[in-house]
Amino acid sequence: MATGLAGLNQADFFSGWWLDNRGGLSSGMLLRNNRCILAVPAGWQKRVPMKALIKRIPFVGTLQQLYWKAMKPARPRAPFPGSAEYWESRYAAGGNSGSGSYAQFAQFKAEVLNDFVAKQRIRSVIEFGCGDGNQLSLAKYPQYLGFDVSSTAVARCRELFASDPTKSFELVSNYSGQKADLVMSLDVIYHLVEDSVYEGYMRALFAASNGHVVIYASDTDNNKGYEGTHVRHRKFTAWVAQHFPTWQLAQHIPNRHPNRGDDEKGSFADFYFYKAA
Ligand SMILES: C[S@@+](CC[C@H](N)C(=O)[O-])C[C@H]1O[C@@H](n2cnc3c(N)ncnc32)[C@H](O)[C@@H]1O
Repeated sequence: MATGLAGLNQADFFSGWWLDNRGGLSSGMLLRNNRCILAVPAGWQKRVPMKALIKRIPFVGTLQQLYWKAMKPARPRAPFPGSAEYWESRYAAGGNSGSGSYAQFAQFKAEVLNDFVAKQRIRSVIEFGCGDGNQLSLAKYPQYLGFDVSSTAVARCRELFASDPTKSFELVSNYSGQKADLVMSLDVIYHLVEDSVYEGYMRALFAASNGHVVIYASDTDNNKGYEGTHVRHRKFTAWVAQHFPTWQLAQHIPNRHPNRGDDEKGSFADFYFYKAA
């Protein structure tokens, strides 16, 4: 004969109990293997919170806890702070440029870009959105000027390449009309969440070039699942065709590691090489 609720197991079974209209336990019996192990007299007025009672029943209690957890309204996600703020806080907190700037993706990007720079005899490169410098450490460019919206990223790059006189870095707000043979945008366009930032960035990209622009990005307007995040895909080829019709899309190189659902294993960015007419 059990004397309390602590010894309950899966064979235990409640019978004849009901809750009064304030959630209090009114009366009934607790059966184990059809034998009464605890009787509560009618009129017993001690209030037992239903949640606490059920929680103590092995197995049933666990299921109930999972159910209540699932039914609890999700805490509303903090609103996206804006692309510039997002990147600065990410780098300031010790974060990096993301998987697209490392490992197999960095290798693929460097191979394509170094080959283009060598074949086209590019003498100077400007990059808008240089990031943490990891991608750049694989680059073979004669002269390079990198801009970024994050002061932490710029400081990191300056430190990383302090002994390399061919590379310099600036905050993008300090851009003052410099030009280069090749202007690059690598893994940046689908992070330009705000329309005005996107438009300003695209115009600067083409205005800064003496003849070549390379974009490594997704090219779609489908943003299903990315709402409210730091990703906003853009059908940028249509934007370029409309706003810079004299620039020709000279080459499209699909990604060697296309995205098949896992962002760490595959990228949704391809290479798009533009040439001034
Ligand atoms: C995913 S990282 C890519 C870094 C680098 N291009 C690479 O391929 O490794 C995107 C970078 O774009 C920068 N960025 C975001 N918005 C920008 C803007 N409006 N102008 C310049 N850089 C920006 C971010 O701070 C970040 O460093």
